[in-house]
Amino acid sequence: MVGDMEGHLTVGRVAGLAGVSVRTLHHYDEIGLVEPSARTAAGYRAYSAGDVERLREVLGYRRLGFGLREIAALVDDPAVDAVAHLRRLRGLLREQRDRAAAMVAAIDKELEARAMGIRATPEDQLKMFGAQLYESIGSAYPATRRTEPRIAARIWEALGDARTVLNVGAGTGSYEPADREVTAVEPSAVMRAQRPAGAARCVAASAERLPFPDRSFDAAMAVSTVHHWPDPVAGLREMRRVARRVVVFTYDASTPGWLERFWLTRDYLPEFAGLLTDWPSPADMARAIGGRAEPVPIPWDCADGFFEAHWRRPEAYLDEHVRRAVSVWTRVGTRAEQRAVDNLRDDLSSGRWAERNGDLLALDEAELGLRLLVA
Ligand SMILES: C[S@@+](CC[C@H](N)C(=O)[O-])C[C@H]1O[C@@H](n2cnc3c(N)ncnc32)[C@H](O)[C@@H]1O
Repeated sequence: MVGDMEGHLTVGRVAGLAGVSVRTLHHYDEIGLVEPSARTAAGYRAYSAGDVERLREVLGYRRLGFGLREIAALVDDPAVDAVAHLRRLRGLLREQRDRAAAMVAAIDKELEARAMGIRATPEDQLKMFGAQLYESIGSAYPATRRTEPRIAARIWEALGDARTVLNVGAGTGSYEPADREVTAVEPSAVMRAQRPAGAARCVAASAERLPFPDRSFDAAMAVSTVHHWPDPVAGLREMRRVARRVVVFTYDASTPGWLERFWLTRDYLPEFAGLLTDWPSPADMARAIGGRAEPVPIPWDCADGFFEAHWRRPEAYLDEHVRRAVSVWTRVGTRAEQRAVDNLRDDLSSGRWAERNGDLLALDEAELGLRLLVA
């Protein structure tokens, strides 16, 4: 359609100003990411101020390393206006700058040490990449990850009468109780940037080094995060140090035969086992903080899309959005993921999945190894 050209920029001009190719802009148009609202009389794409604003957001997120699909979800979110995008981009860029500065400092330190014939420990070498996984996958998280009320009720009950609560590995803030004074800790800038407006104050730090004095909170909680910590026991001890009570929602991979417990790992993704080698058992973790581990069944219609959540809704695992919000799928690698999804799709259409797992359809909840540690 030929529109009113006043205030519009041609595709060539936009490409020149933004430092991208015309082909890139054509591609963004073709996939519906940035569709110019008009055409010149000669049929060239023409961009309005609104189109340019959207393009600027897209390019900003692109430079930060977000994928095009993730960017589409971010810029299409009607709850986020241009100012909120600018604030988020600014925050992410500052984090990136700080992280780059920290990496330069760590590299300088290692170069100095090497010059003196000292080799950095493997732990020190890895520290500079801490929380990197969620920097790359975190933006897909809010699509399916949210508070499951029945699990939240268990966590909040375990917090007892705590008035001040520290939420470690807080992500986007699921499970933070609204009726208590919450402080969040989250190392990933991408996750911090996605916390909703009005969410609890969030500090950039890791579980293993909590920047708080001893006993500064009534309780500390950690939900679906301990398996990401480089040193879970050190992190749990830190929680124990800063709080009177500790509540942790985690997974038990120590009971013999655990791989068989869930059809997804048993029949489609045995690679999951490789992710949990050296993983302390909930009993070991509970011992480290002096507490107990209780089983938490997963309701069939669980609202939080963690790895096991769709045990009675197998088709959900065919959905890319469901998988991208769960780190397991990224960690096993694309080949294992693709094979698992292809095999599951085949078994669902041939009826083989139903043959093997049909009895699950009669259950309202399942015990798949989730545990609540309370100390
Ligand atoms: C699966 S998400 C869970 C987020 C949130 N607790 C929830 O229930 O939705 C795991 C979170 O742990 C964070 N994380 C990774 N390493 C961490 C560490 N060493 N200390 C604290 N959090 C960490 C990740 O950045 C990510 O936000």
